[in-house]
Amino acid sequence: MQTRTLGSTGPAASALGLGAMGMSGAYGAADRAESIATVHAALETGVTLIDTGDFYAMGHNELLLAEALRGRDRDNYQLSVKFGMLRGPGAEFGGTDGRPEAVKNFLAYSLTRLGTDHIDIYRPARLDPAVPIEETVGAIKEMIDAGYVRHLGLSEVDAATIRRAQAVHPVADLQIEYSLISRAVEADILPTLRELGIGLTAYGVLSRGLISGHWAVGHTAGPGDSRGFSPRFSSGNVEHNLALVEALRRVADAKGCTVAQLAIAWVAAQGDDIVPLVGARTRERLAEALPAMELILTADDLAEIEKAVPPGAARGDRYPSAFMSSLGAGN
Ligand SMILES: NC(=O)c1ccc[n+]([C@@H]2O[C@H](COP(=O)([O-])OP(=O)(O)OC[C@H]3O[C@@H](n4cnc5c(N)ncnc54)[C@H](OP(=O)(O)O)[C@@H]3O)[C@@H](O)[C@H]2O)c1
Repeated sequence: MQTRTLGSTGPAASALGLGAMGMSGAYGAADRAESIATVHAALETGVTLIDTGDFYAMGHNELLLAEALRGRDRDNYQLSVKFGMLRGPGAEFGGTDGRPEAVKNFLAYSLTRLGTDHIDIYRPARLDPAVPIEETVGAIKEMIDAGYVRHLGLSEVDAATIRRAQAVHPVADLQIEYSLISRAVEADILPTLRELGIGLTAYGVLSRGLISGHWAVGHTAGPGDSRGFSPRFSSGNVEHNLALVEALRRVADAKGCTVAQLAIAWVAAQGDDIVPLVGARTRERLAEALPAMELILTADDLAEIEKAVPPGAARGDRYPSAFMSSLGAGN
């Protein structure tokens, strides 16, 4: 596994990261033993960057990772943790909290659940509109100075917010959706990151499985699967979007790889400052994702891929409408 450095101040991490969200039910029921085996398989193949959020099933995901990582050398992996999304006992979302005292409270609970004395990259999952970003990241800076956090990260914020945060403390990376069908970051977020020396960890590189080559028309999301609420998976849009995937499949077939590998490799090819996260929750999916990092895409390959899936080709927003206004970039 190659490594990539997250920004000019961040850690060196595996060039592919593992996102653990799907292991706590975001895509319907997940198998605990298989999730843990997937984390182990990832570590064994050199994946060091593991992403979670304290709100992923209300602490479930952090407890799962603590179990999976127990006994492992803490210096051999990096934990990226998001915080700030409020949830109720029925798992309903209730806004965000970026107040400095809340940051420290969230951190204390995460450290305990994860069974660790520090978090490698700590980031507010979404901007709290009621709290200036300087105050939220100022609290993280304090936690860095105290040794509980190693690096400051951001998630789904716009270019102006990135600049304001960077003025308080160097930002290691921005986590934001970036895929063949979600390219809004290219307009001014990516240039801003590059100007400031900040890395990008890309999530949704498979658009939650939509462009993985494994989703088909008629496939329905099961209970608890967030894809059941995703506009891009909804009837009327999904047929159009899967036609794009079939065009991509023809390019993948010619290249001798799978659709998922092509989609991951395309994100990785957009710059050495970008680390794709994949949301594999089984060893089988992980095994498919890993070879993507060995895939070399020529200029002709990239042109063929973009001909199959031109910018803006997808139909439907990347989140349900209630969540769109909290995002740092559009579709
Ligand atoms: N900062 C943020 O706002 C934010 C938002 C969302 C996610 N994230 C983070 O980013 C991570 C990745 O995001 P994501 O889950 O949306 O990612 P993704 O990789 O686009 O989608 C993951 C889904 O794709 C399907 N898939 C099919 N083939 C796959 C393959 N070869 N490898 C991996 N997955 C495959 C899997 O569904 P099946 O298992 O059903 O096949 C999997 O659950 C999350 O786990 C989370 O840590 C961050």
